[in-house]
Amino acid sequence: MSEDNGKSKVADVFIDVEAHRLTADIVKKHSTNRNDIREVALKGLNLEWCRNIVELGCGFGFFTKALKGKVHPEAVVTGVDIISDYKPLFLEACKKAGVKGVFTSSGASVVKGLEEKSVDLVICSYSLYFFPEIIPDISRILKKDGLLVATVHNKENMGELVHAAKDVLAANGMLQESVKLPIEILISRFSSETGYETLSDWFQDIQTKNYVNTLIFKPGDLYFLLEYFSFKQPLLLSGARAGLGSALNLLKIHLEKLFTQRRDNFTISKDDTVFVCSKPLYGRRT
Ligand SMILES: C[S@@+](CC[C@H](N)C(=O)[O-])C[C@H]1O[C@@H](n2cnc3c(N)ncnc32)[C@H](O)[C@@H]1O
Repeated sequence: MSEDNGKSKVADVFIDVEAHRLTADIVKKHSTNRNDIREVALKGLNLEWCRNIVELGCGFGFFTKALKGKVHPEAVVTGVDIISDYKPLFLEACKKAGVKGVFTSSGASVVKGLEEKSVDLVICSYSLYFFPEIIPDISRILKKDGLLVATVHNKENMGELVHAAKDVLAANGMLQESVKLPIEILISRFSSETGYETLSDWFQDIQTKNYVNTLIFKPGDLYFLLEYFSFKQPLLLSGARAGLGSALNLLKIHLEKLFTQRRDNFTISKDDTVFVCSKPLYGRRT
């Protein structure tokens, strides 16, 4: 996936802000893990001193909302997302969190222009795999006691949908066997499995917390499964040689068939990891 191609996939998926919100609700409702991952991520951290905060790939400010009551009363959170439509929603999230909000749609590389050792806290939920190349700059901009808190997916995230998509596309001559789907390429860039090694070049101390989770769709939940799939489909189907429309229809039919045949639950892997990184090294570990 080239950089431009990658950016257009991001836009294809996340431009529909309302669908993104609905999908977040579907994930919440169908998760086996009833703990809020943001609470798990922030548990035990003293953030009361944090005033200058950056949320990367902020979307509608999901992670920022969880800062309520935990950070300095004069905290300012800068939300960074390439989709400018998230601005009002992010600012609303800041209001709910009781912090001052600023939004920029310049993209995560904006951190390259930030002053070194100037930021107290960087938060990043489910987006670091879009821009792992800026990790050195995250380390550079953090103060000595500054923190990076990131939630990321495991490599097998949505594996069941990936396999279903590959089976259908291959069976219909729409995908060569060796071709990886965009979601596989994306997650291979930064995941629970590879994250520690990448981060340990730039942070002296890294804590990991495993967040074990599965999405369960019961018989009768087919509508929600298809909604979830429809939101994610640009990341699943755009390796298809033929038109996306026909690939989408074929996969929907396949999922419907799988779902009705089984008469039991359809499950989707959704294990995540939280990385809490401190003691920035300000240069690659040698
Ligand atoms: C999976 S969503 C996560 C959104 C939010 N953090 C959450 O947990 O709900 C990934 C977000 O990263 C944003 N994104 C992708 N590439 C980006 C980039 N290069 N710079 C800034 N944001 C980016 C997308 O627009 C999207 O809102």
